[in-house]
Amino acid sequence: MKRRDILKGAALAPFSAALLSASRTAQAGSVQTKRTNMAQAKVANTPSRGAGTGKVPGFAEHLVTSDMDGLGPDGKPTGQKMTFTGASKADATAQSAEGQQMKLTKEEQAILDGKEGEEKAKLMKILVAFGNAFGAEKLVELGGAPHSNLYIGAPYMNSMITMLEECADAGLKSYAPYTVNPRPYDVYNVQNNPKDMELIYEGYPLQMRLDYVHSRLGAPDLNYRSCACYLDEIGNAPKPGTYVAWCESSAVNYGNSVLGIRTNRNGAGMDMICAMLKKAPLFGLMTDEGRKAKWLVEVKTSNEPDWGALGTAIGRKCVEDVPYVTGLDKYFEGGKVTADNLHLLKAMGSATASSGAVGLYHVENVTPDAKDKGRDLLGEGYQTYVYDDAEQKRIIGTFQNLWPEKDGDPTAVFIGCPHNTYHELVKWGRLVTEALDKAGKEESAIPVYMFCANKVRDRLIEEDGELASKMKRAGMHSTNMCAVSYSGMKGFSDRVRGVTNSAKTRNYSTIRYFPDEILVETIVTGKIPKAT
Ligand code: F3S
Repeated sequence: MKRRDILKGAALAPFSAALLSASRTAQAGSVQTKRTNMAQAKVANTPSRGAGTGKVPGFAEHLVTSDMDGLGPDGKPTGQKMTFTGASKADATAQSAEGQQMKLTKEEQAILDGKEGEEKAKLMKILVAFGNAFGAEKLVELGGAPHSNLYIGAPYMNSMITMLEECADAGLKSYAPYTVNPRPYDVYNVQNNPKDMELIYEGYPLQMRLDYVHSRLGAPDLNYRSCACYLDEIGNAPKPGTYVAWCESSAVNYGNSVLGIRTNRNGAGMDMICAMLKKAPLFGLMTDEGRKAKWLVEVKTSNEPDWGALGTAIGRKCVEDVPYVTGLDKYFEGGKVTADNLHLLKAMGSATASSGAVGLYHVENVTPDAKDKGRDLLGEGYQTYVYDDAEQKRIIGTFQNLWPEKDGDPTAVFIGCPHNTYHELVKWGRLVTEALDKAGKEESAIPVYMFCANKVRDRLIEEDGELASKMKRAGMHSTNMCAVSYSGMKGFSDRVRGVTNSAKTRNYSTIRYFPDEILVETIVTGKIPKAT
């Protein structure tokens, strides 16, 4: 399967599975449906082809599985399949969706029965089916604030956007102001030619409807759009232990691991359904049992690891199991994750979540669960994976050159997937402008796109205006869009030979991955150094 197909599948499958289950379990539905009244019958709508047969319909067979197998220490497949929730503990299959029935409170049952309106009843029906599919026993109350990854106003999102509009029309809202992923394009800060503009306007005709409905449901303005919602400038960092229902693999991964919040890796749309109900089914990474590690990953590189390569290695090995990682605490002084070092875990974690589907990792002496419980987090029968210099070299050796014109020179640099922190903007600003000064140049040889929230860019302008101006003059463009969506534009790989520091971008596109020092040299000369 091509990388981009995986991305598309990963984004859509969980929600499809939930919707499918919603209709399929109309017959299996139980405690709840036995008490069905007229209002609920009204929201049931048309059953799917599979409803009432007790069998998983052919077209749904692969909705909760994928071809992404884990590899055991012997290098052979473990047979583990992703569920896309980041919680292999749930061990869900389409068949297992049939049997489970969650216990609902009176209040929840009343919502399901339509006492709070038709729209809320529909949402509850989907949520209950979703929970049943993954073996949840109950719903839990959510806190903090939601994060949504519904950010693409493409035609295939029409039914989802319509559903959200119906909810907004009915007066529903998220339980708290929420954050949303960056938009898929930027018509201001990158050099879009007329063809690019055509692709943008033709490719995302529903963008305004989507942005508008987010605003109606409680999202702030577009300056806050970011996948790194947990940064101080954006402010969505719930307290440890808080149940939330986030979407966006990198945010879920960071939130669970570094913030210590409790969320599954939800499919697009489930975020908003949970947000409007203020509830989510309790399973997988939201439970103590689901947060136990199945892998002990021992990092034994002689120098600081390449964080993106390390994350890629962990994702490939663990798929969506939880790893407990040792050997990294020396890079976090006093075991503290700060505004100046969090980008290391952001880079590693997002790579685990994109080369596999890791929704939570523990770092010994650093992340909150690991600080609390230490190696007691290792589950029975855990496996061990050693990541040393040789393994790092092997992993990087698997990063293929996917440019159609393999020997061409790079044409653009992509920094910041997940979105850059303020610290990263300053670091890259200094690295590049100082290297240019040294080379007697004022401008980079190729454009450098710095992906970040407007709020983070604004902080740079306010606190370090001189550097911000210098970066702009040097050809470094701050843009608040999503790097991968931009690189997924039709024809992109034919006309752009991109280079990046993001293993996540590499995982999902033809953009090539290099260490920072190589990227700096490339930015100055426009060429990839010969020795690499
Ligand atoms: Fe963020 Fe887009 Fe990368 S949402 S993590 S910039 S894929």
